[in-house]
Amino acid sequence: MEIIKLKEIDSTNEYAKKLIDSGKRDFIVIADKQSKGRGRLGRVWFSDPGGLYFSIVLDNKFYEILSFITPLSVVKALNIGAKIKFPNDVIYRDKKISGILIERYKDKIIVGVGINVENEIREEIKDIAISLKDIKRGVNKDEVFKRFLDEFFNYYNNNDLDKEAILKEYKKFSDTIGKRVRLILPNNEVEGLVFNIDFEGISLVTDVGLKKYPTGEIKNLRNLKE
Ligand code: BTN
Repeated sequence: MEIIKLKEIDSTNEYAKKLIDSGKRDFIVIADKQSKGRGRLGRVWFSDPGGLYFSIVLDNKFYEILSFITPLSVVKALNIGAKIKFPNDVIYRDKKISGILIERYKDKIIVGVGINVENEIREEIKDIAISLKDIKRGVNKDEVFKRFLDEFFNYYNNNDLDKEAILKEYKKFSDTIGKRVRLILPNNEVEGLVFNIDFEGISLVTDVGLKKYPTGEIKNLRNLKE
């Protein structure tokens, strides 16, 4: 797959859309920095030099598993014992090291991945974010990128992809299953104990029984009596 390398761009996901508009297909865009890195739910993704910022453009297949194989590939590429926070944040000791933004565009899917590798974490997010360089010495973002692509395409190009096996692996690395959380939904919030995660969403044991939600943002509930 063609890899387009840029020094700077507003957002690799946005640039990918322009290339799709021009008829390009099956490619990866990677940038040294982004001036308007975007996160989920309209948030900003700080994209200072040293981090990995890339978007993979794929045919519209396997959509439901991308949200599982992408964080799994990040966890494996990092190899530091990172965990997955629902739906697809990668965290290390409760701090975010990688974020993923998957978007449908025309007949394509854009898998946008940001990984804090050698970049300095900005002061204002130091209590919620971490960079690989703060965990492990001698890291190199090209190496992490290569390892990610190996892991990711190992899943993606596997014609006998076993969805149940992927789910099992995801659950093994899940930091969310078994935790008491507040799930932020578009119009309300619910609290409960996370019972399960699968391709259809997340199930919580709430005051009114077992409930399943297609997606949402997780806040861990600390300071609760165990
Ligand atoms: C999140 O955690 O909310 C998702 C962050 C996704 C960031 C990546 S960096 C490469 C790609 N381009 C963007 O503008 N965003 C994604």
